[in-house]
Amino acid sequence: MLDRVTRAPAATIGHATAVGAVTATGDATVPPRRLQRLRRTAPLRDLVAEVGFTQSQLIQPLFLVENAADTGPIPGLPGNVRLTRESALAQLDADLAAGARQFILFPVPARKHVRDFDPGFACDTIAALRRRAGNDASLWLDTCLCSYTADGHCCLHDTRGQQDLPATLDALVELALQYVAAGADGIAPSDMNDGRVAALRLALDAAGHDLVPIMSYSAKFASQLYGPFRGAAHSAPTHGDRRRYQIDVRARRDALASSQRCAAEGADLLMVKPGMSSLDLIQPIADATGLAVGAYQVSGEYAALALLAREGFADFDAALLESWYALRRGGAAFIITYGARLGRTLGLAAR
Ligand code: PBG
Ligand code: ZN
Repeated sequence: MLDRVTRAPAATIGHATAVGAVTATGDATVPPRRLQRLRRTAPLRDLVAEVGFTQSQLIQPLFLVENAADTGPIPGLPGNVRLTRESALAQLDADLAAGARQFILFPVPARKHVRDFDPGFACDTIAALRRRAGNDASLWLDTCLCSYTADGHCCLHDTRGQQDLPATLDALVELALQYVAAGADGIAPSDMNDGRVAALRLALDAAGHDLVPIMSYSAKFASQLYGPFRGAAHSAPTHGDRRRYQIDVRARRDALASSQRCAAEGADLLMVKPGMSSLDLIQPIADATGLAVGAYQVSGEYAALALLAREGFADFDAALLESWYALRRGGAAFIITYGARLGRTLGLAAR
């Protein structure tokens, strides 16, 4: 009889009370541990929720294209479009009104080069967005070469086809300095080349931008889940893949070491990517570095949920929220997601 179960002695109060409790008549029984009790109503579930977060902790990607012919919807990423200067301003207005406060910008130049890249079009748009947003929003700039290079790689190569690391770092620094001069709030290097955080930090400081933070893509795995992004950003490599610089998904130590190295080189924020492939790494990286670690819910992860919903297998909004909570439970301090602008609609508080 459940109602005649005696209370366990003080020493076993806690989880142990469910096991080995004794009835008033002395029969040894095991009262069922009814974990469902605290799941019964929404207020009870809210009471014991351990994670929650706000729309201010979601970062919305925006693709800035130079070529007006490249605008329009992005296959695989419903609700996301490629933007020119004018449409980017309209998008910013709409997103600010919807409660989004953090943006990460991906410049997509019209023409590709081997070196000597010109981010002028992006800087015009950054400056316009900066003027419009004031200090109401943060504009992070994804800083990489793969949308600029003719071969779609995140590094430069010498004439023998070998990676040219010094030239790569110089090119990244040059882009970052121009982005910041145009009004970027922060730099987010996504290239995974050795030494880029230190090179960026030194150059930013030398240019007087010592208050500009670096959000490093510190544990970025080579992945099949970047497909929709590469279409949108024209960044698919024309030869080979990114395994020479992105991390092998089996290499946990490498992911930790990459993150610790970024921290040591002066990164202010770290990031894992793809989010779902990195759930086991977020908290260990945070513990090892003492830095806030975010998760990038990459294009393929977002597209997968959209496809499930399109086929009638899931409710998109609920699935999106579920995925964010899982990343949060894994320790993510912030989340880059193609659905950041939906935060309020999905019930998140502003901040
Ligand atoms: C560029 C970059 C990529 C992503 C962010 N920055 C693509 C890649 O590394 O191939 C992926 C983002 C996504 O899939 O949403 N270095
Ligand atoms: Zn890249």
